[in-house]
Amino acid sequence: MARVSPIWHPMTQHKIFGRAVAIERAEGAHLYTKDGQDIIDGISSWWVNTHGHCHPKIVEAVQAQAAKLEQVIFAGFTHDPAEKLGRGLLRMVGAAFEGAGGLPLEFVFYSDSGSTAIEAALKMAIGAFAHKGEKRTKILALDGGYHGDTFGAMAAGGRSVFNAAYEPYLFEVEHLPFPEAGQEKKTLAALRTFLQRHGSQTAAFVFEPLVQGASGMRFYSPDLLRHMAGLCREYGVLLIADEVMTGFGRTGSLFACVRSGFIPDLMCLSKGLTGGFLPMGATLATRDIYKAFYHDEKAKMFFHSTSFTGNALACAAALASLQIWEEEPVLEDVARIEASHSRAAGWFSARPDVENVRVMGSIFALDIKGADNGYLAPVGAQIYDYMMAHGVLLRPMGDCVYILPPYCIEEADLEYIYATLWAALDSLRGDVEQRAA
Ligand SMILES: Cc1ncc(COP(=O)(O)O)c(C=O)c1O
Repeated sequence: MARVSPIWHPMTQHKIFGRAVAIERAEGAHLYTKDGQDIIDGISSWWVNTHGHCHPKIVEAVQAQAAKLEQVIFAGFTHDPAEKLGRGLLRMVGAAFEGAGGLPLEFVFYSDSGSTAIEAALKMAIGAFAHKGEKRTKILALDGGYHGDTFGAMAAGGRSVFNAAYEPYLFEVEHLPFPEAGQEKKTLAALRTFLQRHGSQTAAFVFEPLVQGASGMRFYSPDLLRHMAGLCREYGVLLIADEVMTGFGRTGSLFACVRSGFIPDLMCLSKGLTGGFLPMGATLATRDIYKAFYHDEKAKMFFHSTSFTGNALACAAALASLQIWEEEPVLEDVARIEASHSRAAGWFSARPDVENVRVMGSIFALDIKGADNGYLAPVGAQIYDYMMAHGVLLRPMGDCVYILPPYCIEEADLEYIYATLWAALDSLRGDVEQRAA
């Protein structure tokens, strides 16, 4: 039990994992340790970073804001960065979804993280029906989904090692089978059957559009999502898009739902919202949902807040990030990364020890053949160690190894990551052959 540091780190088994790596500064796609090691951030520091670390425009905006106003209660008060960000976000989302089916997203509720953005969306959906006097208590989700670690978000997520200890405390959610390629009909049939029986009692369908991140970068088809959304709409079930990971260009389009051609009723954003600079969440809602809480009776307000809701520094960072999106060809960078990933996918697909090599936007992923699957598969730690020893941060999820870099990453760094991953897989070869024998 003897430890030098009192810090309890997230998603860390302290009995097994050594000392945390101390990072002193960061720039672009690179992290620098106290003792001068240069590490390429191959996972955008848990999928948050978009434009690179310490982007000068965001640094400047946060510094200027810090000298003026850092934080003020957001109930009954507001400030310029929050107002400008709200309008800017809605403009950006409106333009991205132009021509897509559904009501426009017209209201923005701020919170602090992806989990809190999800909690707010679930409470908005359930609360809206309750206020309208409609008894809709059921929630639909996809098996294997991950929406965060607060209780509502855990309940919406698939049941797994992440939440096994808490299962008795999680409210009931109907999890549809994940639509593996070729199995889409099974998912659609399960959805149809559920809606025929329970559609009128179902408040919302919550989903990670096109990619389930934490369950192993599992991709599914935009067409299927469009179909599922259409079916839900027939039964008045609200669509909650968890774009916490997929939002802000990660999959190649500004938001993943754009590729499925529909506007969700509630959209959850976080991670890339501030360019990955400061913690922040946002839940975007339609006027219809907002109206369900707009009432003469005070008791019908949306009873939800976190102390730092609308934090002025986070708003300033997000606003600066939005400006970068407006001024710089960010999606072209994502397309460049996608092209490099696709080339690399060609090479990796030829390896006998990997499978399901896949690319979407800035995401590259593969599964190691013959390894135990699941988040805890030891092969993940072996790859992590090898990559770190060679100056690259990748954090495989068990047998799923993925690369998800900041959009500013240079080609030479990408090439280095692919080459190092290739060598890391070679270093495992003996183990894989032994496992297969
Ligand atoms: C799709 C998705 N939703 C929600 C969350 C939770 O976000 P946070 O960790 O900011 O609470 C995550 C985090 O990885 C995520 O990937």
